[in-house]
Amino acid sequence: MDNQKPTILVTGASGQLGSEIKVVSKNYTEEYNFIFTNKTDLPIDDFIALENFFEANQIDYCINCAAYTAVDKAETETELAYAINERGAANLAKICTTHNTALIHISTDYVFNGSATTPIEEGQKTSPTSVYGFSKLKGEQAVIAQCQRAIIIRTSWVYSNFGSNFVKTMQRLMAERTSINVVNDQLGLPTYAKDLAIALLTIVDNWEENLCGLYHFCNTGQPISWYNFASAIKDFTNSPCEINAITTADYPTPAKRPAYSVLSTNKISTAFGINIPNWQDSLARCLKAQ
Ligand SMILES: NC(=O)c1ccc[n+]([C@@H]2O[C@H](COP(=O)([O-])OP(=O)(O)OC[C@H]3O[C@@H](n4cnc5c(N)ncnc54)[C@H](OP(=O)(O)O)[C@@H]3O)[C@@H](O)[C@H]2O)c1
Repeated sequence: MDNQKPTILVTGASGQLGSEIKVVSKNYTEEYNFIFTNKTDLPIDDFIALENFFEANQIDYCINCAAYTAVDKAETETELAYAINERGAANLAKICTTHNTALIHISTDYVFNGSATTPIEEGQKTSPTSVYGFSKLKGEQAVIAQCQRAIIIRTSWVYSNFGSNFVKTMQRLMAERTSINVVNDQLGLPTYAKDLAIALLTIVDNWEENLCGLYHFCNTGQPISWYNFASAIKDFTNSPCEINAITTADYPTPAKRPAYSVLSTNKISTAFGINIPNWQDSLARCLKAQ
């Protein structure tokens, strides 16, 4: 550890986003020390463990990728979802304030109810429809209440070559079946976790106290449905599998998903000069990297 360089702690680093930050961090080793922790090393719902860790290590920036992300299971594992997404976020916010650490916390489009019809801006009214969405909103509120030096980034439809996600599930199903049914009445924009990882390290590298607050991040382009996204995966991979469009009513899930969750990314692009790639280019890059 080079004591001359600021240190970035990435929590929940074994997940999709944390793994992509690990890859992108290779471009920043001259400027920063990195510490990557996972659920076993540093459980964010364990306040004492966090306190001991921050006492033992000088942390200048913390990027919190740790979360309970099982959207449907959260409907029954409610306590666990809140323990991690609300109280874990609150723990980190409190400890970051004590240690004067700048915090970047990741949240979700599921804090909205899906009734919007144009890209959703940061100040729009939240109204989650699922336990996961509520627990993430509570986490945001705890961060805002307890940490002044915080940036919260809501993102949507995250995928990567790490972990499990829609792109990998579609690829597996397309290999196993001759046809699949995919919901066509939920609109959003996907996020390649590598693009978000690049954006996060750009934000750290251009940190300004007056830019703290809420931001939205997803890939750019025309909003799409999951059916459109699956069709693009089929086209890019030359899969012969037939993709059929179905409605949300045809595919009931324990957690209610927003019908429209397109996030506006104007604020983050302007504030940090981030040029966010188009979703099709990002999907192509992700598939090529497999
Ligand atoms: N995935 C999406 O589509 C999506 C969409 C919008 C927003 N987001 C948000 O984006 C962020 C990153 O998501 P992701 O896709 O990278 O999720 P992910 O792949 O599920 O990664 C989350 C990581 O957090 C770990 N974790 C769980 N409980 C923890 C705890 N108590 N302490 C420390 N680590 C813990 C998980 O470990 P285990 O796997 O061992 O439990 C996992 O490695 C999250 O805040 C998520 O809410 C995700």
